[in-house]
Amino acid sequence: MEKNSREDIVVVDGLKKFFGKKKAVNGITFQVHAGEVFGLLGPNGAGKTTTIKTLLGLLEPTEGVVKVLGLDPVGDDVQIKRQIGYVAEEPLIFKSLTPLELFGFIASIRGLDGEVVTTKAKEYMESLGAMEYINQTIATLSRGNKQKIQIVSALLHDPSLLIMDDPLLGLDAKTVKVVKEIIDLQVKRGGSVLFSTHIMEVAQELCHRIGIINNGLIVGIGTFEELSKQANKAGANLEEVFLRLTEQDESVNTIITNLRASFLGNNGTR
Ligand SMILES: Nc1ncnc2c1ncn2[C@@H]1O[C@H](COP(=O)(O)OP(=O)(O)OP(=O)(O)O)[C@@H](O)[C@H]1O
Ligand SMILES: [Mg+2]
Repeated sequence: MEKNSREDIVVVDGLKKFFGKKKAVNGITFQVHAGEVFGLLGPNGAGKTTTIKTLLGLLEPTEGVVKVLGLDPVGDDVQIKRQIGYVAEEPLIFKSLTPLELFGFIASIRGLDGEVVTTKAKEYMESLGAMEYINQTIATLSRGNKQKIQIVSALLHDPSLLIMDDPLLGLDAKTVKVVKEIIDLQVKRGGSVLFSTHIMEVAQELCHRIGIINNGLIVGIGTFEELSKQANKAGANLEEVFLRLTEQDESVNTIITNLRASFLGNNGTR
């Protein structure tokens, strides 16, 4: 096993999280190094959100150790939250506020200068194409625009670690490009990022290292090149590597063949 160093912003060691009989996470070990964009990939229900929630102290491990910035997310909750920006998978709370009111509220609970935060928030809102909604009740915003508000909210205190659970979900192409830039800048100014995504192209492009989770276990970890080797798929793209490592490549082909046979006739043509 890789040795934990002070440069590990996140350390997950033998993490297990059970919900009754359901083994959502069943012994996961990985580290996120300082200055790194780390991607967590995995099929639906693989255990990504469960893992991420333990990093925030929102779930307590059933077994194993989780350290974030050298601290225990459950015991040192407040200290960690000060340094983390979190984009959750589930939609925003405080939906009866406008984004501007929400940003003001965040500034006050984080003890930040209101004016500085407002200026920063407006800049992010502008770049995400959401400025026109800054005074509109969050509940009435479209899904993608709600997601933009969540992302801005996570950035207002210049966190050293950005943890984002499926941040690109529901965002349009232009916004995805901007969020990719925000992730890149986070690292360029000395921070780190851990995010989950289902968009393979984005993970391949942005992540220094990737951890692939399947059924609560890590089935591949490393740079894209290292994962390609682990999958025995030199020259393949991340989608192919991912499907191989999660043992879905053959089943997906069978499913497609069967679907074609059912809907188009046995030879797959009309
Ligand atoms: N509170 C809970 N009670 C019972 N089972 C849960 C609970 N939370 C998660 N699970 C189960 O744990 C497994 C892992 O869920 P998790 O949300 O971590 O998956 P995920 O990798 O984030 O998936 P997705 O890509 O769909 O977001 C799933 O089978 C899920 O149904
Ligand atoms: Mg999830």
